[in-house]
Amino acid sequence: MSESYEYITVATAEGIAVVTINRPDKLNALNAATVAELGGAFHAIAEDDEARGVLVTGSGAKAFVAGADIAELATMNSISGVRVSRDGQEVFRFLERMRKPVMAVVNGFALGGGLELALACHLRIASSNARFGLPEVKLGIIPGYGGTIRLPRIVGRGRALELILTGEMIDAAEAYRIGLVNRVVEPDALMDAAKALMGRIVANGPIALALALESVDHGETTGTDDALLLESNLFGLLASTDDMREGMTAFIEKRPARFAGR
Ligand code: COA
Repeated sequence: MSESYEYITVATAEGIAVVTINRPDKLNALNAATVAELGGAFHAIAEDDEARGVLVTGSGAKAFVAGADIAELATMNSISGVRVSRDGQEVFRFLERMRKPVMAVVNGFALGGGLELALACHLRIASSNARFGLPEVKLGIIPGYGGTIRLPRIVGRGRALELILTGEMIDAAEAYRIGLVNRVVEPDALMDAAKALMGRIVANGPIALALALESVDHGETTGTDDALLLESNLFGLLASTDDMREGMTAFIEKRPARFAGR
């Protein structure tokens, strides 16, 4: 990938694209330009056959993302406020609907828009020193990048409302306990653990991964009967792939499958 960015970096190796938000002096706070760059990077990764999985993280040892950029938000009016919120929502929704697995690698504070970014990822892995919160009400606003929708879906309404209404932070152990993160590891081991987990995921059939993601996303936004119908159609569609034949033949021949994504 040849795009160059001011506030983020993107590096792809061994099938995994690592997107790093790179404003460590501002704890990787999301200004509008960073959100736009993330949008550009996610679109590029979606089209990049080299990238079969995505990790999203923050630079430095202190923060994943400490929220939307408060200095920028402080100048908004009603009209620009809606625009800011919609712009971020669109980028995060694109990420959530990406047909490649995406994992947040939470290496420190994940606050406000930072937690909302992590919530839009399919999986979350955190360092033991990570802290999570939606402090917007302390600023007189509410989460505007999908936090009021996605957090209740992931941890349940009561736990989500406690975080949203208190604006207080929880630590990584508590985040794991309530199901907000999939796993917690020591800070030094975080990126290796994230790459190892994503490596095991992207070793699976890419079309199967894409359609599993599509079915789960569709199931959240539609009624049960429609969702089951789509699931059965996607299930049947996979019977036309070389990947299905390879996966089942490899099982019978007692060898690892080599998926071509066809
Ligand atoms: N927006 C803009 N700048 C931010 C920011 C944000 N969300 N979060 C941190 N920063 C900046 C600080 O202003 C400071 O910049 P400066 O050195 O130019 O003054 C720098 O990042 C370091 O932050 P600082 O507050 O000094 O670090 P700390 O260790 O004392 O506190 C936090 C860390 C995360 C507790 C604190 O920065 C914080 O509460 N940030 C805001 C969190 C928030 O409300 N996010 C939701 C926004 S909607």
